[in-house]
Amino acid sequence: MILDTKPSVIFEKKGAVGLITLNRPEALNALSHPLMDELEKAMDDCAADSAVRAVVLSGSQKAFAAGADISEMEGLSSKEMRLDPHLSRWDKVSTFPKPTIAAISGYALGGGLELALACDLRIASETAVLGQPEILIGVMPGAGGTVRLARLLGRAKALEILWTGKKISAREALELGIINRVVPAESFLDEAMKWAREIAAMPPLAVMAIKKSVLSALSPDYPDHPKALKLERELFYDLFDSEDQKEGMKAFIEKRKPKFRGK
Ligand code: CAA
Repeated sequence: MILDTKPSVIFEKKGAVGLITLNRPEALNALSHPLMDELEKAMDDCAADSAVRAVVLSGSQKAFAAGADISEMEGLSSKEMRLDPHLSRWDKVSTFPKPTIAAISGYALGGGLELALACDLRIASETAVLGQPEILIGVMPGAGGTVRLARLLGRAKALEILWTGKKISAREALELGIINRVVPAESFLDEAMKWAREIAAMPPLAVMAIKKSVLSALSPDYPDHPKALKLERELFYDLFDSEDQKEGMKAFIEKRKPKFRGK
């Protein structure tokens, strides 16, 4: 048996900026357990190193990340899902004390968009495709998508995205306010790094104090609405008792259209 020792995350320190690059091209950077373990380690390293003053989280030209790994979840029950702390990794990003920028190119779907939403700022290539397509595979977002989109966009726009599972272009995402900037495909990472270096050059204590204050202003339950995130997660886990979740995820893996029965 050949063991796959390729890292799922590439972590580099570039001056005052920690650059974390998701690296599972064969699965469009689907956020598997090993990948999120490596991401968590890189984030911990950035938190502990006072020389790192901002973090850029990126993927490839083709995919930031196409969601949580469906093949890991497909056959699981709600009980098994609840015992797994996987989704708390997204919270780690959202509560990270230093500035975080998601540099998005290609697909940012499901848990991938949720990872970008957990960052402070989002810069996207004009090729980026965003969305929360969980509904199309019989479930719902479980890593902050319903909570963060509702807070960013309000009820109607958030529900439109969440109920349709539709794909949103970078331009549309900019108009909606999901992302901060759209840049040409070839320079999305350079632009993100440039922006991160600008923020990293600011006085770090003030930068972190501003982040803490903004997060607290957004939520009386700082950090980041733990009650709302808990409810979302419970509802997400409950769906793993449904036939539609099994059918939706199985159909994705078998590359066919799912047949939902409302059970
Ligand atoms: N999980 C596991 N594998 C995935 C994946 C995912 N989320 N997304 C893509 N892949 C894999 C595919 O299975 C395929 O693998 P094989 O070559 O071994 O068959 C490979 O990546 C390439 O994908 P496609 O062949 O599907 O590529 P495409 O260009 O035809 O389509 C796509 C691209 C539209 C992004 C499509 O892959 C897709 O719809 N992916 C799933 C998106 C999705 O539903 N995300 C939500 C996941 S659930 C979630 O995230 C829950 C949560 O809230 C935490």
